[in-house]
Amino acid sequence: MTSTSLPTQTSPSTLAAIGESRPGAEWWRTAVIYQIYPRSFADASGDGIGDLPGITSRLDDLASLGIDAVWLSPFFTSPQKDAGYDVADYRDVDPLFGTLGDFDDMLEAAHARGIRVIIDLVPNHSSDKHVWFQQALAAAPGSPERARYMFRDGQGENGELPPNNWESVFGGPAWTRVEDGQWYLHLFDTSQPDFDWTNEEVREEFRGTLRFWLDRGVDGFRVDVAHGLVKADGLPDYTPPEDADSMGGEEPVPYWGQEGVHDVWRDWHRVLAEYEGDRALCAEAWLPTVDETAKWVRPDEMHQAFNFPYAMSEWDAEQLREIISESLRAFPAVGAPATWVLSNHDVIRHATRLAMPGHPQGHGVGPATEGKPDPAAGLRRARAATALMLALPGSAYVYQGEELGLPEAMELPDDVREDPTWFRTNGERYGRDGCRVPLPWSAADPAFGFSPTGESWLPQPADWSALARDVEEQDPESTLWLYRTLLATRRAHDLGAAQLEWLDGYGDDVIAVRTGDVTVIANVGTEPVALPAGTLLVASDTFEGGELPADTTVWIAAD
Ligand code: BGC
Repeated sequence: MTSTSLPTQTSPSTLAAIGESRPGAEWWRTAVIYQIYPRSFADASGDGIGDLPGITSRLDDLASLGIDAVWLSPFFTSPQKDAGYDVADYRDVDPLFGTLGDFDDMLEAAHARGIRVIIDLVPNHSSDKHVWFQQALAAAPGSPERARYMFRDGQGENGELPPNNWESVFGGPAWTRVEDGQWYLHLFDTSQPDFDWTNEEVREEFRGTLRFWLDRGVDGFRVDVAHGLVKADGLPDYTPPEDADSMGGEEPVPYWGQEGVHDVWRDWHRVLAEYEGDRALCAEAWLPTVDETAKWVRPDEMHQAFNFPYAMSEWDAEQLREIISESLRAFPAVGAPATWVLSNHDVIRHATRLAMPGHPQGHGVGPATEGKPDPAAGLRRARAATALMLALPGSAYVYQGEELGLPEAMELPDDVREDPTWFRTNGERYGRDGCRVPLPWSAADPAFGFSPTGESWLPQPADWSALARDVEEQDPESTLWLYRTLLATRRAHDLGAAQLEWLDGYGDDVIAVRTGDVTVIANVGTEPVALPAGTLLVASDTFEGGELPADTTVWIAAD
């Protein structure tokens, strides 16, 4: 190791070209995709909820970060019972977020900066305010209107018991009874009735929705609950284990990962293939193994699938090594890129989670949770974990705010919570509000610059002033500058397309790999590790001397 002082940070002028997307086909194979959670990103209207004009106003910040694409969580017409994952009109924008014209402006402005745009499509269920569900309620049992959803007669003498014992992901029964005595299935909230995907009318409707947005110019779709659309014949009873992740579960689960879903993705693949420009589908499929997940990205299905086994792995070298090697075997084996993700709007932010193992996905953490981590220790691990992730070949997802090192907001008061999980479990599970708190843009402004009026739909922790973007902008050691440097170096060395080779001799607690011409050493253990010779390209934290401290990752170029 020749230099262990402050890593060279990328200067703003080197970053000038970063908004340009990688030229060439199949951009999604190596892309870094930034998740925007619109209600918490930037609020231009001042009502305390982020919106599309807010996103447009901040695109330069994203271009200077160095990402290739954005994925927007839902902004469609919705009563917002599940923060927009309850869609009432798939082909319009909710007034909370703006108008279709605002969407077109945002898309054009993103494309002008070389940023591609993926939107979120929610095919498993609609809102109960969707016109089809309203028609279904008004129609008789057995009618074509009811056949678009999963209506069934109940059990018991008078049908007073639900058709089976399924539980909703958010807690409580997965069935709700309507006035005439039938029941409808909702794997999520009561306000989110499941479609019946064996119905051709449902399939045709969604083809139309895909085309509606593809015609407007979107680059692809993140597909919500892509493991859930088709249910096992006969809807057999199923009881998940006590500590199961809310969206996962061991196989076989009669409502997850059924063979029939793959027909839907083959059909959608064909629709996207009608369009020019490498449009992509990304599966949100919570499955227990990487091998299972790879089935969603076979050549005629989706293009990418989130690597949730990676997202859920602990800060543990053995687990990481196993999942990385499985991912680099299983995804390429079907011709797809490996993907990597550490945070999103459904999981505890990794600056908290990695220092606090043992919390099932979706359950959340809050004021009464025991064993909360020291924020500095959590952040140190998060930076090291990101530096490892962004070195890996394939495509990576970054969730808004992680580039600022935001932790989970763990002290939210009960009366501000909005996640249906909190209500449906009577407060037993905190749910996901803690990872959805609006971003801090400028420390000195009300709501840290999130909205011009100082409104914010969830309160921001006071100590987030230190994590505001304008504060981090001035600090070369900030997490913001770390992300910029990682992304610029990843691009300069083409790491997304590199081959990965494992390096021996660093010990069990270390991840050591060569990817392209870069050596990456992540110290996941507690003891310092000797480093190889070379020039330090990036370090997840500063350190003195020739040994790499615990919870630190470096990228080194051979001299
Ligand atoms: C989304 C969640 C949402 C659920 C129901 C997901 O997996 O990411 O935020 O609550 O689907 O639509």
